[in-house]
Amino acid sequence: MIIGVPKEIKADENRVSLPPDKVEILVGEGHKVLVESAAGSGSGFSDETYLDRAGATIVDDPEEIYGESEIIVKVKEPQSSEFNRIQDGQTIFTYLHLAAEPSLVDCLIEKGVTGIAYETVEDRDSKLCLLQPMSEIAGRLVPQIAARLLTNLEGGVGKLLGGIPGSGNCRAFILGGGSVGLNAAVTLAGAGADVTVADIDLNRLREIDILTRGTIKTIYPTPSAIYDQVAQSDVVVGAVLVAGAKAPKLITREMVNKMNPGTVLIDVAIDQGGCVEGIRPTSHDFPAYTENEVLHYAVTNMPGIVGNMASTALSNATLPYVKILANEGVHQAIKHNSGLARGVNTFGGSITYKSLSESLEMNYSELMGIL
Ligand SMILES: NC(=O)c1ccc[n+]([C@@H]2O[C@H](COP(=O)([O-])OP(=O)(O)OC[C@H]3O[C@@H](n4cnc5c(N)ncnc54)[C@H](O)[C@@H]3O)[C@@H](O)[C@H]2O)c1
Repeated sequence: MIIGVPKEIKADENRVSLPPDKVEILVGEGHKVLVESAAGSGSGFSDETYLDRAGATIVDDPEEIYGESEIIVKVKEPQSSEFNRIQDGQTIFTYLHLAAEPSLVDCLIEKGVTGIAYETVEDRDSKLCLLQPMSEIAGRLVPQIAARLLTNLEGGVGKLLGGIPGSGNCRAFILGGGSVGLNAAVTLAGAGADVTVADIDLNRLREIDILTRGTIKTIYPTPSAIYDQVAQSDVVVGAVLVAGAKAPKLITREMVNKMNPGTVLIDVAIDQGGCVEGIRPTSHDFPAYTENEVLHYAVTNMPGIVGNMASTALSNATLPYVKILANEGVHQAIKHNSGLARGVNTFGGSITYKSLSESLEMNYSELMGIL
């Protein structure tokens, strides 16, 4: 099969979907991998390495990659300038976050694209196994970002996360205790902050409590509990997810208005539309803006700035699925692998992921019925 690896064009996106060591495996199994020139430059992988060590075919023109490949393997959702490159009936395997990208949904439907979203593929335990590595990274970036935004340089209150003896430390509140939430909680606590996590999944709260030996506080997120927490915290992190759907707006404008001046509000769930009412997506160029004296951070591709490690982590998780798709062919692979089938958000001109269709109020078709 011919597999295409385009260079990512989203702002400050340094990741590449398949580093040379993964391409080498695919080429070794008899596939042809077209890699766009400089696709790996932001992650530290040169064209020479792709060519000499991995056996890739380096292609200068992205139109050629899309034109010749049966499967396009990417990192981020296709940007609007990439829409016209996508071929009718092509398969695209990438983060899609379609609930927040209605124009991309229209494009995929119009072209009958098989859109397989990393973020809804499930493993045997029904875990979102291809979202997890990037969520781990985003969570672990949270303390670095918060620490910077809390300084006067960025308009913050001028505090250290961990404080110093006699001056107290920062309070951090994390809404959603999944992969992002847990990784943010542990690293924020490691930096010395006083951390509270809220989640509707009581078993998850139990796990966090046992895992962290009670050093991280857990609460159930009623609106009044969220209200109290955000009003008292220096750092607030949005990390909820309802798979495939728009994020619920759990932190309302009224709550934001009650935050202390200089509070840092990081909405990691922004790629699914954000869980903070009224928040706008930002980019690594201008990652934060201040509104009502609260610093809002809402970068949709946080791991994009740690390209090397993020590309390796992502492809460690995606490679088994790329192999199945390439070795069995897309249709057979989807039929035989129910976890991969959960990733299929669009197929044959229809939306095939229920919570996505509900979020966008569009028609839903059952995948196996139309396969
Ligand atoms: N901005 C970025 O660059 C970036 C990077 C990675 C992940 N993300 C996003 O971060 C979000 C979280 O991802 P994750 O991997 O941690 O997901 P996850 O599924 O591991 O965790 C989500 C948690 O949210 C909880 N939750 C759901 N509804 C809730 C509610 N009403 N109140 C409280 N908790 C609720 C769930 O119980 C779950 O524990 C997703 O939107 C994901 O796409 C963004």
